[in-house]
Amino acid sequence: MDHFRHDDGQLWCERVPLAPLAGAVGTPAFVYSAATMRDHVTRLHQAFDGLDPLICYAVKANGNLAVLKLLQESGCGFDVVSGGELERVLAIGADPARVVFAGVGKTEDEMDAAIRAGVLMFNVESEEELEVLADRAGVLGKTAGVAVRVNPDVDAQTHHHITTGKKENKFGVDLERGEALARRAIAHPAMSLRGIHCHIGSQITDVAPYRAAMEAATGLAAALKPDAPDLEWLNMGGGYGIYYGDDSAPDLVDYAQAVRPVVANSGLKLVMEPGRVIVGNAGALLTRVLFNKRTDARRFVIVDAGMNDLVRPSLYEGYHRMWPAVGDAPPPLGSESGDEPCDIVGPVCESTDFFAKNRPLPAMERGDVLAIMSVGAYAFSMSSNYNDRPRPPEVLVDGDEYAIVRERETYEDLLRREQPGAVFRRLDVAEPQGDAS
Ligand code: LLP
Repeated sequence: MDHFRHDDGQLWCERVPLAPLAGAVGTPAFVYSAATMRDHVTRLHQAFDGLDPLICYAVKANGNLAVLKLLQESGCGFDVVSGGELERVLAIGADPARVVFAGVGKTEDEMDAAIRAGVLMFNVESEEELEVLADRAGVLGKTAGVAVRVNPDVDAQTHHHITTGKKENKFGVDLERGEALARRAIAHPAMSLRGIHCHIGSQITDVAPYRAAMEAATGLAAALKPDAPDLEWLNMGGGYGIYYGDDSAPDLVDYAQAVRPVVANSGLKLVMEPGRVIVGNAGALLTRVLFNKRTDARRFVIVDAGMNDLVRPSLYEGYHRMWPAVGDAPPPLGSESGDEPCDIVGPVCESTDFFAKNRPLPAMERGDVLAIMSVGAYAFSMSSNYNDRPRPPEVLVDGDEYAIVRERETYEDLLRREQPGAVFRRLDVAEPQGDAS
């Protein structure tokens, strides 16, 4: 579901036509649909009706402050994985009691900031992390809320780079160690065991692994409950798949049905950390054709966006639908046009700089705008300045209006922190007097 549509010979985001918008803001540019994001939050609430989940939006998917603000206004809490993400949610005035802090490698500074802010729970992933967290909470004279992240060793059947719930993944601890960790948290005066957490991967299109994961998590919770008065949350993580164009994703109701009995029987409150499903289909990347090029082997269309702006095709073989913003509508979803196949590539000096390979697309001319779809999640947030390319602006559309919610970077931005004339210094450390032989 999204609010992009072809009508009257051009592509629209809500009631804003995208080719003229590209003219106004320049290309490449990310465009997000506010209505699509809001609708997905509503749909999540409807699908999980009765379980009344706390939806902690995964900031890593798209951390733009305007997006966070919009989602906060839609009733979301937040899932953060770094001090930077925490800073973002605090900047929009998020309620820390609706924030969870995940990630295998939190620094002491990050822990301190989150303890001070008073986040609901840290998803704790190792024994050492628990010890350091307990220590920091003690030093600060506060209580740290803890959820133990269990790794249930289930195969989420997704791309191997984005699966997290198998025992060979770095995430979480197995059930036995999870119980020991949880008991340590219960016993520690500076900690409060509030939840069990489980996140098994991303872009998961099979609902069965969720049930298996939740069964494991609730089993552990039941064993702990008699000794854990504060244990009231079950965190099922995120990972719900979306439609990209090359596969189909279950309805949100199907995910809810898979876990509903397990969650309901547990007597625990549900918290979830969806990212992609809320914002993924809400974004398009507008890019202009720079050149057409033919070799004996291929038709190439070279565009002004690059893998530094959208890395998913190169990194995960991610498929994204794309189509010219002006002209006939694309063929129905799931079918391909009879056009000549081409490779859509960017200007970056890497062979992995492509958005599509061998994709049938209409003839395009220099200057035409191409819209790359479903880039609301893990696109801008994973972008870089590789090849010294300033990052594109982010534009939020709401109804018939748009706002530039992050400006295009400038060359000045790129050079700002570098100091070619920096003074060299010496550390005050004695060098070993080695034997010269
Ligand atoms: N919770 C935790 C602990 C996570 O690690 C993640 C994502 C989420 C929630 C949100 O997952 P979502 O609902 O968005 O699937 N860059 C990759 C995806 C990486 C996901 C990392 N963790 C991609 O572009 O496909």
